[in-house]
Amino acid sequence: MNNATDTVEKLSIPGPTGRRVLGNLFDFSSDPLTFLTHAAREHGDVVAIGSHNVLLTHPRDIENMLVDREGRFSKARVPGSSEGRRGQGFPHAMMNSDGDDWRTKRDRLQPSFSRHMTTTAAEVVRVEAERTLNGWALGSVQDLQEHVARLTLRVVTRLLFGESFSSSDVEIVAKLVAAVMDLATTPIILPEWVPTPKVVRIRRSLRQLDEVLARVATSPLARDRERAPVLHALMSATPKLSSAELRDEFATLVMAGYETTNDAVVWASYLLAQHPNAAQRVAEEADAATQKKAPSVERMESLRYTHAVLKEAMRLYSPVWITSRDCLCDVEYAGHRIPRGTTVTVSQWVTHRDPRFFSDAHRFVPERWLDSSNPPIRGSYFPFGLGPRACIGAAVATTEAVILLAEINRRFRLELVDPSAVRPRPVIALQPVGVRVRVRRRETIPAPSQPA
Ligand code: HEM
Repeated sequence: MNNATDTVEKLSIPGPTGRRVLGNLFDFSSDPLTFLTHAAREHGDVVAIGSHNVLLTHPRDIENMLVDREGRFSKARVPGSSEGRRGQGFPHAMMNSDGDDWRTKRDRLQPSFSRHMTTTAAEVVRVEAERTLNGWALGSVQDLQEHVARLTLRVVTRLLFGESFSSSDVEIVAKLVAAVMDLATTPIILPEWVPTPKVVRIRRSLRQLDEVLARVATSPLARDRERAPVLHALMSATPKLSSAELRDEFATLVMAGYETTNDAVVWASYLLAQHPNAAQRVAEEADAATQKKAPSVERMESLRYTHAVLKEAMRLYSPVWITSRDCLCDVEYAGHRIPRGTTVTVSQWVTHRDPRFFSDAHRFVPERWLDSSNPPIRGSYFPFGLGPRACIGAAVATTEAVILLAEINRRFRLELVDPSAVRPRPVIALQPVGVRVRVRRRETIPAPSQPA
């Protein structure tokens, strides 16, 4: 939350008052999902959640803020972060830049995220899924988060940098991501120069990553637009990227693309494990698609129900659960003036579960996405963001997740070992904790019960 500064005018907008000294900081830090939900339900569509933080919950306002074409908002800090973490937020990356600088960087990367990359994603994920799932014995218990995470990490590094990454390189990246996630959960923010163990771990991982990238940058693949489009785009930029720029771009792309896709697949699997009817339908659709189409993006396009499952999982458990911007000028929402310098936040978790915009808002109903005559209200569903800053990897991530769900359910039925142990952990992404599954043969499914 923005703990800011005397230059920002105090808000005169209703909201929870919180505790005497800490305000809402304690409630937000200890359980942000409940805090934001209550704040929205009790105080309306525009809520002051801190002295310089406002939550917008109405789709009309969310769309207006995210589809910001007038440059009224800045994104150049990591959402949910504060001054102290800005430096660790990889400041040179496209994701963390604004204005003309952002436009140049986005234009540089956008052509790589083409249909060709989506096709490659479909193929790579099928091969990786086979490798992982062949190792699952019937009756065994698997930590879904761990397996899917490794798999999506291998897929994303392969998509971004071709085959130039070895397994030990992937390990280095995995360590960096874990260290950054770990830091994101630190409640007390110290200046970056304080060498806490977490900061030391990040620095070590960054050094190792720099070495890997220096090697990758001189590999023949860096000149191969077909096989390593993102690497090629970065390496052929003019002026030439510095090593810090290359590293920041790479690290944010991996982090944006890997943890989120992983969380989407694990949440969808968790929901399917609780809804055997839906799991059965995914399995049958995967059977039919496998018979008809070669493993490809066309096969993915025939998996309509599985896609609906993914969309519904991302409605209930959106991997990105909060998105923030800083106001560069005064803005107004629902008659409330929000002064320049305020942090404005929207939350997928809150709005995706708002019964005003979704019927049966807390139930898992994939079918709602099959009726194209009844789309959600604009601005009410935004797992990939909206407007010019929307996710660059949305098509790739969707393809990856749908194919992976189809491959898992075509082979197995997953049974939750302990449904009560599962809970969301809202860090940079909404991580599922405790999703351990027993691997069952598809035929041994008990008669499906009605979803709760
Ligand atoms: C299910 C998976 C994913 C989800 C839910 C997701 C979600 C999002 C969201 C909500 C944003 C917008 C944030 C904002 O408005 O501040 C975003 C931006 C971004 N995403 Fe994704 N993402 C996913 C996968 C990926 C993948 C696979 C990649 C790349 C390999 C990627 C790269 C990016 C980048 C670079 C941005 C910044 C775009 C910009 O600032 O112009 N994401 N993502």
